[in-house]
Amino acid sequence: MAGRNGSTQVTATARIDVHLRPDDLSRALRDDARRGLTSTPKELPPKYFYDERGSLLFDEITRLPEYYPTRREREILVAHADDIARLTDAHTLVELGSGTSEKTRILLDALCRRDCLRRFAPFDVSESILRQAAGEINDEYSHLEVHAVVGDFERHIPALPNSERRLIAFLGGTIGNFAPDPRRAFLASLATNMHEGDVLLIGFDLVKDVARLEAAYNDARGVTAEFNRNVLRVLNRELGADLVPERFEHVAVWDPSEEWIEMRLRSTADQDAQVPELGLRVHFDAGEQMRTEISAKFTPDRIVADLDASGLARAAWWTDAAGDFGVALAERA
Ligand code: SAH
Ligand code: AVI
Repeated sequence: MAGRNGSTQVTATARIDVHLRPDDLSRALRDDARRGLTSTPKELPPKYFYDERGSLLFDEITRLPEYYPTRREREILVAHADDIARLTDAHTLVELGSGTSEKTRILLDALCRRDCLRRFAPFDVSESILRQAAGEINDEYSHLEVHAVVGDFERHIPALPNSERRLIAFLGGTIGNFAPDPRRAFLASLATNMHEGDVLLIGFDLVKDVARLEAAYNDARGVTAEFNRNVLRVLNRELGADLVPERFEHVAVWDPSEEWIEMRLRSTADQDAQVPELGLRVHFDAGEQMRTEISAKFTPDRIVADLDASGLARAAWWTDAAGDFGVALAERA
C-alpha cells in the first residue's frame, strides 16, 4: 500500500503509487508562483517545466546536437553498467526524476544479466511521462515487478519503495538543478533514508568550456527556448494567467562564480499579466529577467565535498572519454 496520504493503483501495466495528486501539485505551484512572482528578482522553480508537453520537449532536447549530457552519460553507462551491477548486486532499482527512463534500460539489462534485479521503481513528479515509461518497461521486462511512484523528490524520499539492496539512481545531471543548500539537504535526506546495502548512483555534468555549455542551453533550433517558455503555459493553464510566451525571450548564461548555467525569461516589453487564481497582477519591466532554472556544473572535488557534507562517501567514479560528464556511486558514510 502507499503511505498515509497516497493511493495505490495496480493496473495491467504496472503498480503506480500516487503521493502527489494533481491537486497537491497545483497547490504547490500556487505557493511557489506567488512567492516567485512577487520576489525581486522574479523566479520560478524548474519542476513546473515538466507537464506532458514539457516532458516531450525535454526528450527532444536530449537528442539535440548541442546537448551533450545525455549522450555522455549513456556512454558511461554502456561502459560500466556491468561494473555497477557487480558492485551493487541490486535487488531494486529506484530511479529518481526518471522521465522516459531511456538510459536506465542499460542498467536494467546489466542487472538482469547478473540475475539480481527483481524490481524497478521509477519516481517522477510528471505523472504522464511516468505512466508511459513504467508501462513500457513493464511490457519489455516481464519478469520484473514495476512499482512506479508519482512524487516530489524534495518531499517524498521517505515514501520510496523499500527492499534490501536498493540501487537509487539519479541520472541526467538533475542534481545540478538544485541550489547548493537544497542540494545538500536532498542528499542528506537520501543518506538518512538509505539502509545497509543501499547505494546511490548520481550523474553529474562537469565544468567545461563556456561556449559549449551555453550552446547546450541555447540550441540553434530553439527547442530549449520553447522548453523554458513552457513554464508560462503551465501558469496560464493552472492559474488562469494570461502570460504571452512570445513576449518573453529565452536567456541561458554561464555564471562563473557559481559555476552554473542560469536559464531566464526576459520580458521583451513593459507588460502586465493577470494571475486570477492568485488574485495577482504582475508587472514586468522591458528587459526584466525571471530566473527559471539553474543547472550547476561540477568538479570532482565539489562532488566529494557535497557527498561528504551530506553523510555519503564516494565508492566509485567514472567519466566519459572526453571528460564531459561523471557518474558517482556513493554509500552512506
Ligand atoms: N532522468 C532522465 C530525465 C531528466 S529530466 C534523464 O536522465 O534523461 C528531469 C526529470 O526530473 C523530469 O522527468 C522531471 O519531471 C523530474 N523532476 C523534476 N523535478 C522533480 C521533483 N521535484 N520531484 C520528482 N521529479 C522531478
Ligand atoms: C533535467 N536537467 C538535468 C536538465 C539540465 O540540463 O539542467 C534540464 C534542462 N534545462 C535545459 N535543458 C535541459
